[in-house]
Amino acid sequence: MKFFIDTANVEQIKEAQDLGILDGVTTNPSLMAKEGIKGEENILNHYKTICEIVEGDVSAEVISTDFNGMIKEAEVLANLHEQIVIKIPMIAEGIKAIKYLSGKGIKTNCTLIFSSGQALLAAKAGATYVSPFIGRLDDISSDGINLIEDIRVIYDNYGFQTEILAASIRNPIHILDCARIGADVITSPLDSIKALLKHPLTDIGLAKFLADHNK
Ligand code: E4P
Repeated sequence: MKFFIDTANVEQIKEAQDLGILDGVTTNPSLMAKEGIKGEENILNHYKTICEIVEGDVSAEVISTDFNGMIKEAEVLANLHEQIVIKIPMIAEGIKAIKYLSGKGIKTNCTLIFSSGQALLAAKAGATYVSPFIGRLDDISSDGINLIEDIRVIYDNYGFQTEILAASIRNPIHILDCARIGADVITSPLDSIKALLKHPLTDIGLAKFLADHNK
């Protein structure tokens, strides 16, 4: 399973990269705004900076909602760096754009996936990744992890190559559930990734080993 970090914060991306387990980054307009990145030039430069820190795919989201606008933005973003993946919303114009871009060999990530039907359409269009949002489904008393399971079954039934990129991760249990089901990728805030490191018996055991060594 690949680990992506879901942030536009350079310090957090560097920290995850330094851990040695990072396979890529996902961003979205809200995450960019959170870091105060505004204006086309600054936004493009920020994506370049992120690509220079990590070795894997970096999702950059379009803000157009019509086919022509999406393609225009996608071409600028794709020319920016070879690691850029074009993140496209799950709407009819987005599906057309994914189909067009996949035909040109440009990687895409279909975002805002909340049903297996949406995931099926995105795969048919040739998306490189789909991003089902687990946490936002849980937030409305739906079951985000069930959605990952359903998409896994559907993709395996037909051998779709589209990778399931489980998004909107809220805690380390979400990551482990995705690993059990066989999600191809999780994208997570740094805290949930770091929470996987922790166990009180590890800390107690290490303290005892070091104390015994010093006797
Ligand atoms: C996906 O790629 C999104 O950037 C993200 O995971 C959304 O997460 P949120 O629901 O915590 O905003």
